[in-house]
Amino acid sequence: MIMHSARFVISAVSSNQYPQDDLPEIALVGRSNVGKSSLINSLIQRKNLARTSAQPGKTQTLNYYNINESMYFVDLPGYGYAHVSQDMRKQWGRMIDTYITQRKPLCAVMLLIDLRHAPMESDIAMFRWLTHYRIRTCVVATKADKISRSKRMLHAHRIQQQLDFPSDFPFFIYSAVEHAGRDALWAWIESVGTTRVSRVPKAEVSIQHTRNM
Ligand code: GTP
Ligand code: MG
Repeated sequence: MIMHSARFVISAVSSNQYPQDDLPEIALVGRSNVGKSSLINSLIQRKNLARTSAQPGKTQTLNYYNINESMYFVDLPGYGYAHVSQDMRKQWGRMIDTYITQRKPLCAVMLLIDLRHAPMESDIAMFRWLTHYRIRTCVVATKADKISRSKRMLHAHRIQQQLDFPSDFPFFIYSAVEHAGRDALWAWIESVGTTRVSRVPKAEVSIQHTRNM
């Protein structure tokens, strides 16, 4: 992807603030502190457009970034952050839930999981929930630079096993420090293009709601 422009558009707290121009949207979901905002900066080759923090819970709204005037990255609040009130967590959960199940321009979701750790319950629930709604999803294992090269595949395999996706599933090992994985991830983003998700739920599965995370 050749970057012509990237700009922050809005920090939305409710759906009436989402952009109205109908550009395709790719959303980033994952636990708090997993590296969502850093991934955006790495993809668009800017140091600080998306605000990052060592302190979890930095992104508390839906943050829209316009990319090349042709699509949006939507940085969603991280789930699983213990240090906010139950009410706040429910509110964020509802925002994520409503966005993913109802937002028409949504084309795909990048689900981020820290490569260092086994997926948490909430990651597995989120993955199943996305699958249940047939949301086009890729998994991005973040912070690869924090693990020795020899162990990366082992950790990646653990994520694949626990989420239980097939070997041809779009799965990227990424480092926002070294920008490893950037070209491959961009190729996937471009391949999902402008096709919106259809959201026909699978009938047979009962899924824990993000609201409970
Ligand atoms: P919330 O907004 O709280 O949900 O967090 P987030 O998922 O947006 O995480 P953020 O991008 O703010 O990153 C959290 C911390 O992890 C920051 O200190 C980043 O510098 C660090 N980090 C993110 N990605 C990487 C990476 O690939 N490698 C390393 N070494 N650190 C990373
Ligand atoms: Mg963030």
